[in-house]
Amino acid sequence: MERAECEKLLKEGFAPPRTLLLKGMPGTGKTMLAKWIAHKLGLPLVVLDLATAISSFLGKTGSNLRRSLDYARATPCVLLLDEFDAIAKRRDDATEVGELKRIVNVLLKELEDWPLHSVLVAATNHPELLDPAIHRRFDVVVEVLLPGQAERESILDRACGRFAVTLPHGFLVAIARCLDECNGSEIDTLAQSVVRRHVIEGEDLTRCFVDAVVFRLPRLRKEEVAVLSRMLKETTDLTVREIAQVVGKSSSAVQYQLTKKNTKRISRRKSHA
Ligand SMILES: Nc1ncnc2c1ncn2[C@@H]1O[C@H](COP(=O)(O)OP(=O)(O)O)[C@@H](O)[C@H]1O
Ligand SMILES: [Mg+2]
Repeated sequence: MERAECEKLLKEGFAPPRTLLLKGMPGTGKTMLAKWIAHKLGLPLVVLDLATAISSFLGKTGSNLRRSLDYARATPCVLLLDEFDAIAKRRDDATEVGELKRIVNVLLKELEDWPLHSVLVAATNHPELLDPAIHRRFDVVVEVLLPGQAERESILDRACGRFAVTLPHGFLVAIARCLDECNGSEIDTLAQSVVRRHVIEGEDLTRCFVDAVVFRLPRLRKEEVAVLSRMLKETTDLTVREIAQVVGKSSSAVQYQLTKKNTKRISRRKSHA
């Protein structure tokens, strides 16, 4: 939130949000979002990864947490408590229940009167593991969802960098459609490995994409078969029969999809003439 907006709220007797809980599946960009928030606010980012911290032993986690919280109280920053649910995960360990209770109480108290100059961001893949009392204490709770079509396109586009313009028109749109159950991290990783292969092996970029995407498609829906068949036809030298094998359909089904598109294209061209 902008400083001017904060002051407006304070003048009216309302507190600007200071604590934020980001929840969502792994790889949806929660850590990235916390970094972006820090960047936007012009504040340094302090990260405490509780998954790593907790793996040593709980007593130490408690003191690491204490130190991070104290730092953020003293110095304006964005404090990211990453993999926040790691705290809750240890609940079943009887010897550590007491220590855990203490940590939870510390957090409850901190969330209650967090200072205005710092932002506390907690990120979790497992919000259901959190103590409900903690969950309720956050000023803002944001659920980070899987990327939609437009976001998938922009992740691909960005990952391709300067090579994006060398791709056929509509190609990334088709690829993005094929990746509709992937999270941002998977899409980004896939595109980066594709670009690397293109650069290192000199293989055609569209070909590299098709290879990478075909691997990921266990069952294709009708529209996807159409998109992918056309893509393969336009960007590779596979025969209709080979394309049919790749998409797991009959040659005639693939041929049908290809001619359907061709007919449309021809008629469009005619109407332009
Ligand atoms: N929505 C997104 N847009 C762009 N890149 C993304 C997105 N989501 C994830 N990524 C990529 O995946 C990487 C890992 O995401 P991360 O923030 O660690 O996810 P999470 O913390 O939710 O597990 C990021 O560094 C970024 O490169
Ligand atoms: Mg993360």
